[in-house]
Amino acid sequence: MEKYVINGGTTLYGEVEISGAKNAAVAIIPAALMVDGVCVIENMPQISDTEMLLTILRELGAKIRYLNRSTVEIDCTDVCMQDAPYDLMRKIRASYYLIGAMLGRFGHAKTTMPGGCNFGVRPIDQHIKGMTALGADVDVKGGFVYADARDGKLHGARIYLDKVSVGATMNIILAAALAQGRTIIENAAREPHIVDLANFLNSMGADIRGAGTDTVKINGVEKLHGGSYAIIPDQIEAGTYMVAAAATGGEVLIKNVIPRHLECISAKLRETGTIVLENGDSVLVKGASALRKINLKTLPYPGFPTDMQPPMCALLCVANGTSVITEGVYDNRFKYVNELRKMGAEVQVDGRVCVVEGGKRLSGAPVAACDLRAGAAMVIAGMCAAGTTVVEDVRFIERGYENFVGKLNALGADIRIVDEPEESNGREKILSMMG
Ligand code: UD1
Repeated sequence: MEKYVINGGTTLYGEVEISGAKNAAVAIIPAALMVDGVCVIENMPQISDTEMLLTILRELGAKIRYLNRSTVEIDCTDVCMQDAPYDLMRKIRASYYLIGAMLGRFGHAKTTMPGGCNFGVRPIDQHIKGMTALGADVDVKGGFVYADARDGKLHGARIYLDKVSVGATMNIILAAALAQGRTIIENAAREPHIVDLANFLNSMGADIRGAGTDTVKINGVEKLHGGSYAIIPDQIEAGTYMVAAAATGGEVLIKNVIPRHLECISAKLRETGTIVLENGDSVLVKGASALRKINLKTLPYPGFPTDMQPPMCALLCVANGTSVITEGVYDNRFKYVNELRKMGAEVQVDGRVCVVEGGKRLSGAPVAACDLRAGAAMVIAGMCAAGTTVVEDVRFIERGYENFVGKLNALGADIRIVDEPEESNGREKILSMMG
């Protein structure tokens, strides 16, 4: 039961290096299952979601070894269709990519219904619509998803998504890459990680065009061959450090980023008075002496990312004035606001709208990380607060941020990771204090 103990009132200064994109990596690892040969994947983030997916592949028979800290070699030549570790699959959202990857490789798949962060109901009906259109019979029962290509092979189809879904777009790309004929996905999501998945598959021999637009065309190929690929930097990790720098009034150079992917975040930060300067593959963020209120609405890319909504809410708690946040992607993504209130934040939620009365000095409190990005928001609030904040359930944070505490401490934060056994006798084991 790890916790973060944060002594607040610190200002972040210095440089931080961004890791590979979680949401690209969690699709690229299942994609490696479809490759006939060895994939060398660079810039693999060291987070628990990628570790779990690599473990699932290993248990299916893949040979996996790290060539260095962030480069992993995956050889799925000997993988065969067998029962997978369903307990692991249930823990992560991205296990749904195994449906597309297994269907593509074996013509059938059995996975669990995906887990992941709880933002209310998160259906996978658009994934199922896509697989069905490609010629699979899909059945959901007893918490499992069973999918079988009707004649042993998938066939290209024209698929219109009723919702702009990142997961459905990527899953259909996976399944269609090895299908017979041409697939066209209309009303596709356009996130950078979709382009990254398509680039990965294309570099292994796939024929995918239009990723990053709302129409993706996939000409199925016979097989994919091995090769090397480097995952793009994580847009949301970079955005989190940008917001943390701005909220604490610091000055941080965020390195290994693609500034174009950050434009939606940079634009809203500039409205708060924060200075954001792009330079090559880095951005410099300088916090304003007094942050200003803003209104924002989350939307699919290139709109403001829903995953940046909780960190931005933490920042707006310490900005001057009343800000309004509208959640445009999920029905129920403000549950963490109760935790911010424990720190003295004045935030009201009505459905998908959240009103933040800013300008309050937050005070440290015991809070929980309700989910991955909510956890990052608690840490940012804790760094801004007076006194000590204890963040529980940090396993959620470790799903998606590589060495979060180490990177923040290297910038001047004061955060300890404390591992307290559930049946604690009150003694704390300090695991990590320095960056
Ligand atoms: C992915 C990301 C997550 C991010 C989200 C939106 C991964 C592993 N997770 O989640 O971090 O917050 O994109 O950028 O990459 N929907 C349906 N039916 C479906 C699929 C989705 O109704 O079949 C709805 C969802 O409930 C949600 C909206 O569509 O309201 C967008 O969801 P989607 O883009 O699919 O998100 P995920 O792929 O689950």
